Amino acid sequence: MSNRRTVLVTGASRGIGAAVVETFLEHGYQVAANSLTFSRGEFTDGPNLALVEGDIGLQDTAERLIATAMSRFGSIDHVINNAGIFVAKSFTDYSVHDLARLMAANLNSFVFVTQSAVRQMLLQSTGGSVTAITAALASNPMVGVPASIAMMTKGALNALTLSLANEYAARGIRFNAVAPGVVDTPMHAAGDKDNLKKLTPMGVISEAKDIADAVLYLTEARFVTGEVLHVDGGAHNGRW
Ligand SMILES: NC(=O)c1ccc[n+]([C@@H]2O[C@H](COP(=O)([O-])OP(=O)(O)OC[C@H]3O[C@@H](n4cnc5c(N)ncnc54)[C@H](OP(=O)(O)O)[C@@H]3O)[C@@H](O)[C@H]2O)c1
Repeated sequence: MSNRRTVLVTGASRGIGAAVVETFLEHGYQVAANSLTFSRGEFTDGPNLALVEGDIGLQDTAERLIATAMSRFGSIDHVINNAGIFVAKSFTDYSVHDLARLMAANLNSFVFVTQSAVRQMLLQSTGGSVTAITAALASNPMVGVPASIAMMTKGALNALTLSLANEYAARGIRFNAVAPGVVDTPMHAAGDKDNLKKLTPMGVISEAKDIADAVLYLTEARFVTGEVLHVDGGAHNGRW
């Protein structure tokens, strides 16, 4: 068995997830990465990187991710629940299909991956950490950016983070979240950048690396748990 730490990353093919994978590889971690597909050739399976394709809103994919990490690297030490989708519309326009997609991609994914990973961490008895990517909009809704059902899922992830931090603190498993503002990723490929810049008081759009750096910090901060770290240029703080 390797003596290096293993991290699981979901939604890893692009955007924030891809930056998280690159950051953890640079820092010497072994990474088991999931995405719907890696067919665009973003990453290559290698000695420190295992790729697992599939919808992480399905329990079977979560189980394959865990099994792959165990067979390739022999432990599960950290989880980054990054996979997620954003559907912005008026509350009354959300369809049953939108609701099901948001719940599966944003919430079921966290539950399936985290349950299996925590079971393994408890067996290992060496602690660990789980970090969710939520959203500043969950606690700071904005007129002009209606996203209630999407933010319902992100708010639930913040609540899960606090509950689980408490539940597993004595066993050394930490739970934190990073709440980004607007990040320059393919999620906003069709967005108007000048308008997006107005969504933070700093007047800038962050890079995926800004979020990855915050994730790395929380993963390695051995006394930090139950924290929702806003990386949003101050959007959660006051008006502008
Ligand atoms: N960008 C922002 O401004 C922003 C702001 C706040 C929060 N966030 C959150 O940050 C996270 C990453 O966002 P991003 O901007 O990097 O998004 P993105 O550019 O759209 O990338 C999303 C990634 O998640 C994967 N993915 C989506 N649904 C999946 C599923 N069901 N199973 C497996 N993989 C799935 C995609 O895989 P494929 O490429 O294979 O489709 C892709 O790798 C999300 O949770 C998002 O809600 C983003």
